[in-house]
Amino acid sequence: MKKDGVGIYFNNKAYEVLESYLLTQIDSIKNTFILVDNFTYIHCIPVIYSHIDILKNSNIIQIKSGEKEKNIYTCIKICKNLEKLKANRKSLILNLGGGVITDIGGFVASIFKRGIRFVNIPTTLLGMVDAAIGYKTGINLDSIKNEIGSFYIPELLIIDTHFLNTLSNEDFFSGMAEMFKHGLIADKNFWIELKENSKKNIKKNEKTWNNLIFKSISIKQKIVEKDPKEKGLRKILNFGHTIGHAIESYFMNKNKIKMLHGVAIAMGMVFESWISSKINGLSIDEYEEIKSIFSILYPIHEKNYSNIDINEIFKIMEYDKKNEKNKILFSLLKKIGNCSYNCQVPYSLIKESFLN
Ligand SMILES: NC(=O)c1ccc[n+]([C@@H]2O[C@H](COP(=O)([O-])OP(=O)(O)OC[C@H]3O[C@@H](n4cnc5c(N)ncnc54)[C@H](O)[C@@H]3O)[C@@H](O)[C@H]2O)c1
Ligand SMILES: [Zn+2]
Repeated sequence: MKKDGVGIYFNNKAYEVLESYLLTQIDSIKNTFILVDNFTYIHCIPVIYSHIDILKNSNIIQIKSGEKEKNIYTCIKICKNLEKLKANRKSLILNLGGGVITDIGGFVASIFKRGIRFVNIPTTLLGMVDAAIGYKTGINLDSIKNEIGSFYIPELLIIDTHFLNTLSNEDFFSGMAEMFKHGLIADKNFWIELKENSKKNIKKNEKTWNNLIFKSISIKQKIVEKDPKEKGLRKILNFGHTIGHAIESYFMNKNKIKMLHGVAIAMGMVFESWISSKINGLSIDEYEEIKSIFSILYPIHEKNYSNIDINEIFKIMEYDKKNEKNKILFSLLKKIGNCSYNCQVPYSLIKESFLN
């Protein structure tokens, strides 16, 4: 895939392209900075060193793993490190990690010295099919998700699905939620294919998974190309996220349960599908189909969540970036594979969706 100057490359081919880029486009490998967290330092650095030997001479900047690190203070630390290591306007940042690393690293690249180059090397499923694609970078403001950020285009996108071998099952399923979303909003056949494969021993069939990952990336890439700055159509990618992000922020505030992005989004998709069935024409059968698959795959009906304070969630939703003129706007399904955006939903219906 090659579009708008961004090449997306897979597995072995990807390393060839990256190495050639480093050899031809960077003045010195010492001017390359690999951003990692403590887990990708352990699991992913050896992998890229084994493919591209010269990277052993680059610099590593390490941060702690986790959503809590996705804030302005971490960005300042990274900038100070870049400064100390004598980074300049010709420097390159390689973001080696999940969505937290690609979001922070992309954002730092967009502001450091008014913008330096970066390459995304996502190492989680969520990063590969979603976070690293689409030019959005960002950090949280306290617990408001992605409140600060920029649209910034990477030089390359390197997809090595072998990174998934060390990823926890929890994080694998978290990423799969975004793949399901791609099927629900734009491609019913993909939804069916993914549903069937999700019941099998997930990581066993590498070829099938590579193929599903490729299809999922293509769906997102196509939507982003049509509307890169989210003026309209791109909003469908937020299906499940109006409620999902609010749930994620709520749990971040409470500091009670570790709530993975994909699990929050799976919950959001169930609730927003129910709302879709009430006001946007989604059939009850399709709503039940969606609810049933997410209830099997994700811990969305556990007791822990039953005492969620819906009023607090609603307050968080009021900050949603999609809102206009003080109205909370949703992306809702018409049917599986077809999604509308800018849908206004009454508070009473949002509240009711939590009780179904
Ligand atoms: N910019 C966007 O368009 C966009 C889209 C979707 C999500 N996001 C953001 O992405 C973030 C979530 O991303 P995530 O789920 O990848 O989280 P993450 O980056 O926190 O990674 C999850 C965990 O997996 C570990 N890890 C990463 N790669 C590994 C590997 N190969 N082996 C072992 N462990 C590994 C990490 O250290 C971390 O502990 C959220 O902040 C979300 O807002 C951004
Ligand atoms: Zn998401």
